[in-house]
Amino acid sequence: MKREPMMTLRTRKLSYAFGIEIFEIDLTHELADETVAEIRRLWNKHGIVLLRGQNITPQQLIAYSRRFGELDLHETLKPFRHPEHSELFVLSTIPVDGKPSVSENVGRHWHSDLSYTLRPPLGSIFHAQILPEVGGDTMFASFAAAYDGLSEKMKEVIEGLDAVHDYMGVENMKKRDPKLVAQLREANPPVAQPLVRAHNETGRKCLYLSEQMTKRIVGMTERESMPLLRMLFEHCVDPLYTYRHKWHPHDIIMWDNRSTMHLALADFAPGAHRYCMRTTILGKPSGYLAPA
Ligand code: SIN
Repeated sequence: MKREPMMTLRTRKLSYAFGIEIFEIDLTHELADETVAEIRRLWNKHGIVLLRGQNITPQQLIAYSRRFGELDLHETLKPFRHPEHSELFVLSTIPVDGKPSVSENVGRHWHSDLSYTLRPPLGSIFHAQILPEVGGDTMFASFAAAYDGLSEKMKEVIEGLDAVHDYMGVENMKKRDPKLVAQLREANPPVAQPLVRAHNETGRKCLYLSEQMTKRIVGMTERESMPLLRMLFEHCVDPLYTYRHKWHPHDIIMWDNRSTMHLALADFAPGAHRYCMRTTILGKPSGYLAPA
């Protein structure tokens, strides 16, 4: 592959609170180390990075993603893996052999990827390929901006609390094949994570919770926990801290799972085809197996 020389990156903001588009990046060429370092700096600072018009192969997506760290092979999410590349998590609504795709309902709740694991990813790199005629949008929210928007008193209240993340809390689990659900349960026990985490590269404090998987604070009952968790969740999805992305084919969004969460909207016609794939870049170990 031809190596591209270092370039000054032209950018535009995606929303008030976070997100940036970087222009004139071509991932069909291997980027210079300095360019990758600058993308990483912008990604850390802005939480999500949009690169449009990337008509790349699965191998090129994997090679680009590796520049940012070790890739998850999705061992605990095997049913969703690309058949030839374990590094790729496939998000598809296209039936296979006349049966609904296993991933047709994936991501239909606000979450940060794999927060229910002991090595949650630092980020994910998502490549849109086939899209419905209208819709198929993804929403993003900034945990970092939402944390900054809390009162000092509330920051004191939540500092040092851990919350339980349980993959089985996802409502769409009820629509899935019971055999698949049993397999996912076995591979993904509930995990406790700090409710506030300092981003390990920027030091910026970020909330860390999800809409359906975070149901309890360690040491509290569900009834005691839920009002606080619900308030924090609603605070995070205040429009002030969100961005809605309308995908074009070949868009890439790199999202930082430490400082943002996202939601795949079901805003398209039933049966419409949407086919995307993403890589998941492993982060630092975080959390512990949740006490009963
Ligand atoms: C996800 O990775 O959570 C899915 C996002 C999407 O399909 O828009």
